[in-house]
Amino acid sequence: MTVRAVIGTQWGDEGKGKVVDFLCEDADYVVRFQGGSNAGHTIKVGDEKYKFHLLPSGVVRGKTCVIGNGVVVDPEVFLEEIDSLRKRGIEPRIMVSDRANVIMPYHKILDGAEEAYLGKKRIGTTKRGIGPCYSDKIARKGIRVADLLDENLLRDKLESILPIKEKLAEIYGVRFDFDVDELVEKYTEYGRKMEPYITDTIAELNRAIREGKNILLEGAQGVMLDVDFGTYPYTTSSNTISGGACTGSGIPPKCIDEVIGVVKAYTTRVGMGPLPTELKDEIGKHLQERGGEFGTTTGRARRCGWLDLVVLKHSITISGVDKIALTKLDVLDGLREIKVCVGYEYDGRIMDTVPSNIRILENVKPVYEKLDGWKSVSGATTFENLPREAKNYIKFIEEFLDTEVFLVSTGAEREKTIIV
Ligand code: GDP
Ligand code: IMO
Ligand code: MG
Repeated sequence: MTVRAVIGTQWGDEGKGKVVDFLCEDADYVVRFQGGSNAGHTIKVGDEKYKFHLLPSGVVRGKTCVIGNGVVVDPEVFLEEIDSLRKRGIEPRIMVSDRANVIMPYHKILDGAEEAYLGKKRIGTTKRGIGPCYSDKIARKGIRVADLLDENLLRDKLESILPIKEKLAEIYGVRFDFDVDELVEKYTEYGRKMEPYITDTIAELNRAIREGKNILLEGAQGVMLDVDFGTYPYTTSSNTISGGACTGSGIPPKCIDEVIGVVKAYTTRVGMGPLPTELKDEIGKHLQERGGEFGTTTGRARRCGWLDLVVLKHSITISGVDKIALTKLDVLDGLREIKVCVGYEYDGRIMDTVPSNIRILENVKPVYEKLDGWKSVSGATTFENLPREAKNYIKFIEEFLDTEVFLVSTGAEREKTIIV
């Protein structure tokens, strides 16, 4: 029996979907524990491409997939994703936590309204209602999945929440008037459709652990988007680190056997906020084009830059990463020279940690080590077959982070994966 967590170590889009799909072959359960439909996980199997925002990536292999209590669930997206899988001939096995919070239409409107209000200072959110929904959860004003099955409770809650939301929208200069009856009708209808999937996932997962089942916990976003440890306030609104896997699933910390950190061979970020190694030149463009760095959820171009080992040291420490899955190594093919950030220079000093002050982080200058590039990693099926320079790149990362790279991904497809 093993319980493994797979988490993003940068600003999301590291290739978690691909890695989870690859690793879940022997898993019984694949579990999402935080985030919501802000995520976009892409899986390529043969000619088929799947994009998931809410469902765990294990659905493709027919695993039992769990949406944990820490996720914020948009019923519309949930039902849509199930529907589109069915159309493709996959009957998903899904359980959704009765304790998960629900993204309501006013959350999505407020997400957009807050961003418009912030203007230049906006976060660049996915506008999926994530921040407003988690805010309500923490403020104890959230609607939970279980509430969708209890019309009176739902009505009661909405009657007290809606007037406040209307006032808030007014402040942002947006008008909305949701009718309680209409909302109750729509969301109890969602509840009826979701009922077969709604369950006490905490009991289910802990029973599975007692029975010796294999569980894979699938993170969304990445450590630098964590609300505590990321580039706050330019973060998402949940704990994306491995610790979030416990609070978001009800699996106790002592039951997690292994934490796998997914590291993209370079850095990307979508949305606003500091990105110390960002490249606004031809190389940045090259990474964006070769890597197909356009958001799965919003289609926005991702900002690209060199690998940042200061960031990785931070995320590997906080998440207790045991081993690294290194993805998109092929995207660095053809570069004469590759740079890696090993420190930050600020105010005449060299820093080796990520500063908490966002203004400082915005103004650090990366200190780079230069490594030789390589022609192509494609075709390599073992670590030994990789070009010497690519092996050196991997060894440099391992030594700097004192963490082994156990998996190297050289393409989006399942089979373009090397186990070291
Ligand atoms: P996630 O959010 O971490 O699951 O990552 P995304 O799916 O949003 O973004 C990763 C993108 O890179 C997807 O389009 C994947 O199909 C693709 N991808 C994953 N691994 C590799 C790889 O090793 N090489 C290349 N070229 N593409 C990859
Ligand atoms: P996956 O799981 C990349 C970013 C948004 C924005 C910030 C806050 O595919 O790696 P939010 O809508 O969460 O309030 O937006 O977080 N963001 C992501 N960036 N990958 C993701 O998910 C992301 N989910 C949110 O772009 O900067
Ligand atoms: Mg993504």
